[in-house]
Amino acid sequence: AAPSHHGAGHMRRMARGAMASSRQAAEPFSVRMPVPAVARPVGRTEDADLYRIDMRPSQVEILPGKTTPALTYGGTFVGPTIRATAGRKVRIAYANRLGRPANVHLHGGHVPPESDGYPMDLIADGASRTLDYPNRQDGATLWYHDHTHHMEAEHVYRGMHGFYLIESPEERRLGLPRGRYDVPIMLRDAHFDADGGLILDVEHPEARSTLLANGRPQPYFPVAARKYRFRLLNSSIYKIFELDLGGAEMVQIASDGGLLPEPVPRTTLTLAPAERAEIVVDFSRHNVGDKLVLSDAGKPVVRFDVTHRADDPSRIPDRLRTLPPLPAPRETRRLKLAVAPSKMAYAINDLTWDPDRIDARVKEGTSEIWEIYNADTVDSEFGGIDHTFHLHLVQFRVLDRDGKPPLPGESGFKDTVLVRPGERVRIQATFDGWQGKYVYHCHMQEHNVAGMMAQLEIVE
Ligand code: C2O
Ligand code: CU
Repeated sequence: AAPSHHGAGHMRRMARGAMASSRQAAEPFSVRMPVPAVARPVGRTEDADLYRIDMRPSQVEILPGKTTPALTYGGTFVGPTIRATAGRKVRIAYANRLGRPANVHLHGGHVPPESDGYPMDLIADGASRTLDYPNRQDGATLWYHDHTHHMEAEHVYRGMHGFYLIESPEERRLGLPRGRYDVPIMLRDAHFDADGGLILDVEHPEARSTLLANGRPQPYFPVAARKYRFRLLNSSIYKIFELDLGGAEMVQIASDGGLLPEPVPRTTLTLAPAERAEIVVDFSRHNVGDKLVLSDAGKPVVRFDVTHRADDPSRIPDRLRTLPPLPAPRETRRLKLAVAPSKMAYAINDLTWDPDRIDARVKEGTSEIWEIYNADTVDSEFGGIDHTFHLHLVQFRVLDRDGKPPLPGESGFKDTVLVRPGERVRIQATFDGWQGKYVYHCHMQEHNVAGMMAQLEIVE
């Protein structure tokens, strides 16, 4: 279907901003933020943990007292969290009971092509597929989500998303907050009808005025007066979060691909679709009874209520990890992200997605620099469009932005990078592991649906 939401009318509506009705919104802080359940393995072999996840429709409670039909992994709006250990395999049998074809992509995962959730490689309704995740990568906050071409925005919007956390033994030794003090938080927006049904209106992304944290609207979360590790993920299909904690310090310790070289104290944090940022917040600086609100551009997202004291043996070391040196690049490629000349699609280098075309052939094991240019500049016809670039299979480093050093928080490994209108971002990736086809695309999934996706083939 031809996308229609990026005409001039759409951009004007965007400019008018938050005019959308908020009749759907409940009172903020009326529900408690859940922590997504951790999946239990159904079996174990010497080198792997085995799981089974049913992909199925489900009725879930998001707005208090209302029932929302959702498409899920495992029946919950935020799917079960997989907790993996670096170096030990995970094998998941996905059974598709959705009544439609779908698939699963492990976002940020270093996985063989057959397990990557290639957009044309679908699990038929009624079929099952076992995917292999080797976990030969650093500890990191990954997530899994649907990647069915043309349907990915819709499927993810309706609930096909969950956390996949990899912990490395080295990381455990650092003494960061652990266990119940290590909390994944999925942030996203949503638009509901009066009965609690999810509305996906691509013409009006600004109507998604309900902000969800772990699948509940503007919840509260009781905390002890001590340090917490929060693993923030933006699973929205379009929205960029501009976060702050009312001026309180958030120490960023990790990005998409794991720990940063050193902690980065900050008071604001931008999180584009599919990006992750891990922060440590020290509530011991606050009194029991204090409430801290994590906000998105002035609008509350989740409130942390300091309810009691607790011991805190955790710490944030000055050095978190040493990054390996960048190998010499073999090739430099240029990618232009922009609305296609036809104006009816989004494109990379003026081409929309074509599964029969290989856009980049990369030699296995080599390192490349990719320069990503967002040509939808502020003085373009549509007044500037943000894009968020994601590359499968690998974690990359951000080399520079318009020739300037990367932003704080971009000093480690990334798999998704925000490219603002007119910006040029250079990244470097080393394509090791497997030969085969993988995609790269804008993770504003509405752009991806509309063609802003291409593929590389890793060859001998
Ligand atoms: Cu998060 Cu190609 O996807
Ligand atoms: Cu885009």
